[in-house]
Amino acid sequence: MIINKSQRRSRSRSTALGRLEEYELTDTGLVGRTDQELIEVSIYSSNSIRIRMTREEAFQPLQYSVISIPKAGLHQITDTAESLTVKTEDILLKISKSPLRFSFYNTEGQLINEDDAGFGTSWQGEQVTTYKTLQPNEKFIGLGEKTGPLNKRGHGFENWNTDHFGYGPEDDPIYCSIPFYIGVHDAGSYGIFLNNSHKTHFNFGASNNRFSSYSADAGDMDYFFMHDDKVANIISAYSDLTGKIELPPKWSLGYQQCRYSYYPDKKVLSTAQNFRDKDIPADVIVLDIHYMDQYKIFTWDNEKFPDPESMILKLKSLGFEVVVMCDPGIKSEEGYEAFEDGKEKDIFIKYPDGTGYEGQVWPGWCHFPDFTSQKARDWWQNQLKAYTNLGIEGYWNDMNEIATWGQTLPELIEFDMDGEEGSTRNARNIYGMLMAKSTFEGAKEHLKGKRPFNLTRAGFAGIQRYAAVWTGDNVASDEHMLLGMRMLSGMGVSGIPFAGFDAGGFVGNASEDLFARWISMAAFTPFFRGHSNVNTRDSEPWAYGEHTEEISRNYINLRYKLMPYIYSAFQTAAETGLPVNRSLAIDYTQDEKVYQSAYENEYLFGDSILVAPVSSQKLIEKVYFPEGQWYDLFTDQCYDGGKETLLECPIEKLPVFAKASAIIPIQSKVKSTKERPDSTLEIHLYKGKESNSFCYYEDDGSTYGYENGEYHKRSISYNPKERKLKWSKAEGQFTSVFNKAKIYFHGFEAGEITSLMPQKEEYRFIEQLSNFDPLGDEAHGDYSIEVSCIVKDLCTDAFEIKW
Ligand code: NOJ
Repeated sequence: MIINKSQRRSRSRSTALGRLEEYELTDTGLVGRTDQELIEVSIYSSNSIRIRMTREEAFQPLQYSVISIPKAGLHQITDTAESLTVKTEDILLKISKSPLRFSFYNTEGQLINEDDAGFGTSWQGEQVTTYKTLQPNEKFIGLGEKTGPLNKRGHGFENWNTDHFGYGPEDDPIYCSIPFYIGVHDAGSYGIFLNNSHKTHFNFGASNNRFSSYSADAGDMDYFFMHDDKVANIISAYSDLTGKIELPPKWSLGYQQCRYSYYPDKKVLSTAQNFRDKDIPADVIVLDIHYMDQYKIFTWDNEKFPDPESMILKLKSLGFEVVVMCDPGIKSEEGYEAFEDGKEKDIFIKYPDGTGYEGQVWPGWCHFPDFTSQKARDWWQNQLKAYTNLGIEGYWNDMNEIATWGQTLPELIEFDMDGEEGSTRNARNIYGMLMAKSTFEGAKEHLKGKRPFNLTRAGFAGIQRYAAVWTGDNVASDEHMLLGMRMLSGMGVSGIPFAGFDAGGFVGNASEDLFARWISMAAFTPFFRGHSNVNTRDSEPWAYGEHTEEISRNYINLRYKLMPYIYSAFQTAAETGLPVNRSLAIDYTQDEKVYQSAYENEYLFGDSILVAPVSSQKLIEKVYFPEGQWYDLFTDQCYDGGKETLLECPIEKLPVFAKASAIIPIQSKVKSTKERPDSTLEIHLYKGKESNSFCYYEDDGSTYGYENGEYHKRSISYNPKERKLKWSKAEGQFTSVFNKAKIYFHGFEAGEITSLMPQKEEYRFIEQLSNFDPLGDEAHGDYSIEVSCIVKDLCTDAFEIKW
């Protein structure tokens, strides 16, 4: 057939959605047709609506990210000649019929998001794009693991999982793709999740002043629109769609020491022993690729690691868990069991002519399991026994973009896509997530009731259900350290609460001060691991001289003391999807200051600790305090919010603050999460005007017993007007390791707390001027009052104290 000129031109030019010709109501929304397109609107919850559009005969399903289903009974639809209106409790969606365009309003009728009237959703060949009018003062946050500023306005991004060694602070794309962002403007906020695994593109007003847009190189335009008054609820809505983290084992929240690579076994053991000898708490030693025989997965180098089982046992007796590197490349080598077995079971990805694809990675030429097929996932899960049988409970999925030397995975490679039949074009972005899923589910099955820890480099929307994500091969520089803080906040608003970076920097060598600053900040991040590249300087906390060692010890100790607070924040994340590192844009969305480059790295760690990241080269820094009042965590000095303040921050002291009314539970010093702390839980209460409550959570930290009620959860609430601190009755059957509470009152005036009620013999009341210096062993200073209120039987009952 000869294609005439006008047809050729129409393929490269953009054509937009036409007129809605017909539609039908469904229980959960509607389906309709234009002359060329099939469209569907479905309600997933009152604050989340899905819009699908295709020029194919039917929608192309993508089954990997969304785990919820549309719901009936949450909306009403009205029809007029010009438009349809879909109304839920939170969103009013106006669908104009000719041409077909979508506009979203809040229930007060304010415009939140609208299609560009000219372009709406348009196709250029196979590529489909939705264009949205830029709103006054609109900002864009999220999009997962992305470089660049917190507010992504004026920037464009691509999602195409890519191994990017030593990426620069503006480089894109890198390892992980989360096509979800939040738009914020004067009338409110909304979230958009583009549910398409092809290469996707986001334009937030880059090189234009008319629109923001999102496109997919092929497949359907399939997006979810979410709107709520609070950004936190938008994040929760996204996590209702794509899933939440499982509670990780508590040991994985301790300090993890990694290196490319520790070997032989003696070096691994002496590194672990050094932590104990030097009194620096730690929980994990990570084994990078050198533990394997010629980098062949599921094998051990017999010379360097003659007896892995006994090494692991020794590490466990020192209170260490082991995390092992898992790469997807299986060396193409005759006689290598995993290769032979994989070939026989036919689990590797192939070219369209049926021959196996080979790419080069650490072991040389390799085949790669097709993690998009159940058969390959089952195979991988079974292979994992090689590790679980040795008592290994931690897994690190790396190079799963797929990374191969040359970095250009041919696009014609075929993938199963669980029967849907795909190619690199729609499988690449989800490959890493499905490898992580497979590792997680396999480990979970073999560990028989114990929670595995799983880490991944590549991922896609939904990755949080299977693994923590770290930001890959960062660089030992101040700029990268600060970028890392921002990236973790970005991942937090994109549904990935368990995220981290290589503390100290992977590429290059950190200076003493850079390492000190980095480890101090990393102590306030969800995934806390030191790691560095082969052929770089030693990078353990003691490798940078005594002063840096002391600083590292202090902050790592503080991390462990804060474990009750941190573990509770993880439980909240598992329940609500809210991040552990919270960009200030979540709670202070309409405060312009939080987006400014001087302050965009600040965040809340948990719900009430404000961290102001600062370069290692600055000993004085301007910090912005959002509204409210903030107490220096180390001195109790109180600062008023809504202001910038110049603060001294010597290398020993990171600017960290507690929010007024904060309730922060703290435990005694421990060597690892395996060590039982004192039976007294410290509750640090910071005077404030607002009522507040903290959701305290505890369980055994290692099994799934919590799913059957083996947990201890209670709310601790502070009512400043009534001068009361109240513990609710504990939920769950787990017996807390704490049976006493010691309450520290911060920011209260001397004499303000003169007696505690009810008067009980067990309440020991000490009035003394003191403050909380978490970096020292002794409380000292003169800002707050310490009251020890020792409550025997702090077990399950509700109680309150009044002053
Ligand atoms: C790449 C990873 O990003 C890095 O962390 C690791 O050390 C190397 N692969 C070697 O396994």
